[in-house]
Amino acid sequence: MHTSAGSSAVCAWQNNNKKGCKMDNEFKEDVLAGLRLTQKALSPKYFYDAQGSKYFDQICQLEEYYPYRTELSLLPEVARELQDYFHQQSVDSIQLVEFGAGSLHKVKPVLQELKMVKEFIAIDISGAHLQAASEELAEAFPDLPIKAAQGDFTKPIELAPSDATPMGFFPGSTIGNFDPGEALDFLRNARTTLGKDSYLLLGVDTKKDQQMLEDAYDDSSNVTARFNKNILTRINRELNGNFDLSQFEHVAIYNEELGRIEMHLRSLVDQQVTVAGETFQFKQGETIHTENSYKYHPDEFDELVTAAGWKRECLWLAPDAIFSVMLLHSKEDN
Ligand SMILES: C[S@@+](CC[C@H](N)C(=O)[O-])C[C@H]1O[C@@H](n2cnc3c(N)ncnc32)[C@H](O)[C@@H]1O
Repeated sequence: MHTSAGSSAVCAWQNNNKKGCKMDNEFKEDVLAGLRLTQKALSPKYFYDAQGSKYFDQICQLEEYYPYRTELSLLPEVARELQDYFHQQSVDSIQLVEFGAGSLHKVKPVLQELKMVKEFIAIDISGAHLQAASEELAEAFPDLPIKAAQGDFTKPIELAPSDATPMGFFPGSTIGNFDPGEALDFLRNARTTLGKDSYLLLGVDTKKDQQMLEDAYDDSSNVTARFNKNILTRINRELNGNFDLSQFEHVAIYNEELGRIEMHLRSLVDQQVTVAGETFQFKQGETIHTENSYKYHPDEFDELVTAAGWKRECLWLAPDAIFSVMLLHSKEDN
């Protein structure tokens, strides 16, 4: 399951999807099962092929998309305070593991300040994109052993044994893409993966003004719309689908009752679509639910943290509490 860094600074391996065809079959089964539902739905993890990862990077540069720049601006201070905190805890070496690492922009300020990181492992479902980002990171941090792993963080992950203290890193409020039950499962699994006496540094988006939330997921340059529709392009290409993208529109709404942004693709007409030989009917106005982004008050999120066996050690809030970063600690045995 693991390889050593060898002669190259970046070492790649697949942590829980050993065969590409297994992933392809899962994609097909999940898509067909999702399109058979009364409320059609697709998992947001399927946004992220190479093109989807590029669209996400473009979203991060949008004026409307406050989560990216807000979290990024918090991280240098967070990392400086972590450096002091870990000194006080007599932690002198850290094995840093990033879940959903994407373009690795967020880990840079952490690595710049947190000198006790001795090894970095980046996990993402978008393998080629992660590999390229890891090679770039290795140029900036030539002495740091870096491993890039293509894998699904909702599946069991086994880390190579290390003498360093494990610390997970899960920025971008990607945890908000899970419903609260799935978020609890993720937090429990992360605790098992990272082991006892480990830490988890998490970025979590907060509840706020509805317009600000909806603008962040429905930008005026339609980049998020292209990101959302890319899942249909991917289905057409990889599963022999015949979605006509011009017959679907991007929708992003804040569901206040559930505290989540919902992204959908809405059919503009009555139509039928074929995927992998199976036909699906769409009524005009019917949607495919493609993503949730749950927003949490810090205390509300703390209930999940405690239920999963973690303890919140530190909380950083951006101005006007528009984003939160927190450090969790797992003290007890797993
Ligand atoms: C919202 S983006 C966040 C990217 C980056 N961490 C940041 O904060 O800017 C979510 C990232 O998680 C990855 N991802 C989504 N679902 C995943 C899964 N099930 N397993 C592994 N990676 C996943 C995506 O490829 C993408 O890079």
